[in-house]
Amino acid sequence: MTPQSGTPEQFAALRRFLDASDYTETAICERLGISSLAKVAHLATGGPQADALDWLIRLFLLEETLPQTWLPAEILTLLRTLGLVTGDGGIAATVKLYPVRSVFVISDRDLSGRGGSGHVFSAISPQTEEFLQLVPESPTAACLEICAGAGAAALLAAARYAVQSFAFDVSERCCAFTEFSRRLNGIGNLTVQRGDLYAPAGNQTFDRIMAHPPYVPSLRDTQLFRDGGEDGERLTRRIVEGLPNYLHPGGRLYLLAMVAEYPGDAIPERIRGWLRDAESEFDMVVVFRRSTEAGTFLFDNCAPEDLPAWRQFVDQRRIRRFRYVNVIIQRHRQAAPPLTVVREAGEGYNIAHAERCLRPIDGELRPKVAPGVQCATHSHLENAAWIAHRHVLSLNGPFRVQHSVADWVPEFLAQCDGARTVSELGHPDCIRECLAAGLLEIA
Ligand SMILES: C[S@@+](CC[C@H](N)C(=O)[O-])C[C@H]1O[C@@H](n2cnc3c(N)ncnc32)[C@H](O)[C@@H]1O
Repeated sequence: MTPQSGTPEQFAALRRFLDASDYTETAICERLGISSLAKVAHLATGGPQADALDWLIRLFLLEETLPQTWLPAEILTLLRTLGLVTGDGGIAATVKLYPVRSVFVISDRDLSGRGGSGHVFSAISPQTEEFLQLVPESPTAACLEICAGAGAAALLAAARYAVQSFAFDVSERCCAFTEFSRRLNGIGNLTVQRGDLYAPAGNQTFDRIMAHPPYVPSLRDTQLFRDGGEDGERLTRRIVEGLPNYLHPGGRLYLLAMVAEYPGDAIPERIRGWLRDAESEFDMVVVFRRSTEAGTFLFDNCAPEDLPAWRQFVDQRRIRRFRYVNVIIQRHRQAAPPLTVVREAGEGYNIAHAERCLRPIDGELRPKVAPGVQCATHSHLENAAWIAHRHVLSLNGPFRVQHSVADWVPEFLAQCDGARTVSELGHPDCIRECLAAGLLEIA
């Protein structure tokens, strides 16, 4: 069942009720004793009725069927009119409805049983939670969520920081759900359009593009929200290929995806290659998050009847593992040498650390050694004396770094105390390299 369109007054009345019931992330997490709504799926309450917050949680998050008498009559009528609940004696929700930061979002129930293009992916999944943390909330003019699903990122952009927000998805049901949420939140600056990737954009360009596409490697397309083709990169590749046409100078793409790793084929260079002739117009930060060995992935995700064909594909392509990546791609405002920064996420990593990698270096910046950097010196014995032959600088967080450097570098870095400028310190190439590696930061 697809929720029905209602009048602005009906949407406003429901919003008021949800607000008055304190149906917020904080209150729900407190009530359920969890740290984030991404953990909700594993809980079920049961027990007697408490207050409105309680039955809202049970109905719209835990997917319980509740006695009709638990819901105030006028709210029940409103929920029925908007197509959000069904049933006579027992009332069940037709969708999940929950807060994401300051907006309400609807998506399909976990056990919707819908295949193909039918299922609207939950915006409180651990994956979407990670995706939403990837996108900064700084002001921007035109902001697009591509492969929008339930549209949480686009709704938040419209409500919190974008002048105009857009949500594109190829699934009609996803667009209907996002449009419903748009109206439920009383948002006027979000345009929801159906189409294949950028097709609805026409000549429009964007200052920020946010993408959490389907990226699960799959031999057969059975779930639109999940299947990313044989190597998982089918949609990711096309999203990056579209940037020369759709990303405004100075604009950025924020992408969460999973990519395949082959021996001798560097992932950042492969992603850069997707920009083709325009690649020199873009800077890029690729942050590797967790990874899964190809064999483990197959074992965990593959239907038994597909295993032989899968194994053959993975062996033929020599895929070693699948890697979760955060990618930021920025288009230059004016001509500049293209920059590619590659990092391994470590303790305490967040997207702000990745964004800092894109700051241009000029002579007036004051670099300082990142907290936690350690230096190990490897020496060998020669004529009864220890001769240092290798210096390794390392760091556990926010990026994991193991960097061999020339023997003068540790001493030089000790001079980078945040007081002296790049011009005063000299060695700009070394500073650039250490900034890119995360060993230095800008004071
Ligand atoms: C993993 S879901 C992500 C949804 C949402 N962005 C999120 O983070 O929760 C991927 C979405 O991509 C959409 N999609 C798949 N193929 C597409 C295409 N060719 N063009 C546009 N959207 C597509 C699916 O319908 C689905 O809603």
